[in-house]
Amino acid sequence: MKVWKGNILSAAGPDRLEIFEGGYLVFDAEGVIQFVGPELPSRYAALPLEDWGDRLILQSFADMHLHAPQYPMVGIGMDLPLLDWLERYTFPNEARFAEPDFARQTCRQLAAELVRCGTTRVCMFSSRHTDATLILMEELERAGVTGYVGKVNMDRQGGPCLQEGTEESKRETLRWLEECRRFRRVRPILTPRFTPSCTDELMGFLGKLAVERGLYVQSHLSENRAEMALVGRLCPDCAQYWETYCKHGLWRSHTVMAHCVHSDKRERDAMRKYGVLAVHCPDSNLNICSGIAPVKQMLREGVWVALGSDIAGGAMPSMLDVMTSAIRSSKARNIAEGDEVLTVREAYYLATSAGHRYFGDKPGFAVGNPLHAVVLDDRRLPIPARPLTMEERLERAIYRCDDRDIVAVSAAGRRVK
Ligand code: GUN
Ligand code: FE
Repeated sequence: MKVWKGNILSAAGPDRLEIFEGGYLVFDAEGVIQFVGPELPSRYAALPLEDWGDRLILQSFADMHLHAPQYPMVGIGMDLPLLDWLERYTFPNEARFAEPDFARQTCRQLAAELVRCGTTRVCMFSSRHTDATLILMEELERAGVTGYVGKVNMDRQGGPCLQEGTEESKRETLRWLEECRRFRRVRPILTPRFTPSCTDELMGFLGKLAVERGLYVQSHLSENRAEMALVGRLCPDCAQYWETYCKHGLWRSHTVMAHCVHSDKRERDAMRKYGVLAVHCPDSNLNICSGIAPVKQMLREGVWVALGSDIAGGAMPSMLDVMTSAIRSSKARNIAEGDEVLTVREAYYLATSAGHRYFGDKPGFAVGNPLHAVVLDDRRLPIPARPLTMEERLERAIYRCDDRDIVAVSAAGRRVK
């Protein structure tokens, strides 16, 4: 057992920020939180204590949508909309994951950056390559990043460099699942890339697998108008995009759908009803001109929303930057359409508790949750003109801090930075 002391900020609800100035966090040898509060109960008085002084103890971040093989192309190729961007830049880039050495180098660098930035849980796409996907899982485990990783399935419209055969895709998915048994902190998630990339036969196979083995599913939804029109042409039997997943059993509780920029009320209702997680990726949605997701509206309607960097449609691996981007893009929507803006509290909740919920956690630093935390030192920033409240320090950290200021990271109680 161990104690951390510091300024604890816990996202207990979308609009509930719980603050313990100079508070205490107690966690056991398995990394599970036993206590959080303003005073240390006497029964814990003899435990070893790490005093973080005036630093902020925040929940670490859950990046619920990103693409590992796209890490080498972060920051380039932002001049095309989604479908052209995929064909021109992304697919040729991902094809290099056929080379294990290249995959290893990329995954090691990515895992290190995630840990530096305080991202301890992910829901991540690999490429369609089984061996590279296993390498990715190894590198995440080694670095201390936990969560879900998917070998991508794509048996149509992937071009000569990347597409797999239908039988090959099925066979490799089964081989990959078999190999995944050796991982402890990183688990497999079924990953049909998006409807245009998968035949009905492959989707049906994956849906059956999801039901039979109780596996989770991740994909993309209603990101871009041209993509939605293409789905409409490919699946004339479905009235809406979400139904192309639903008809194969892939629209389930804990199905992760990235983007949902243009999902209308009916599609959003289907998310809420089934317990689908919508992942808002604001930086990506602006970079490749997809649109601005109605994140406030989704929250008002009770849709489960979390945040994603969507590397490399997004160019910001740090969830501090993704939070800033989410607030800014809600303001762009406010200017254009008059929708309410996202608050700092809400952004912090979306980047932490909303994502951690995917792994069964209660909101905030709740007793029983594994300790996913970062310690943030904001002393590099200008001395303020007056003392700041803790909530102001959180706001300023989101806008101004980066990996240099994150001085410690705990992933499920394991100290990884
Ligand atoms: N839709 C299908 N594949 C992708 C991808 O790699 N990135 C994004 N942003 N959308 C997609
Ligand atoms: Fe994506």
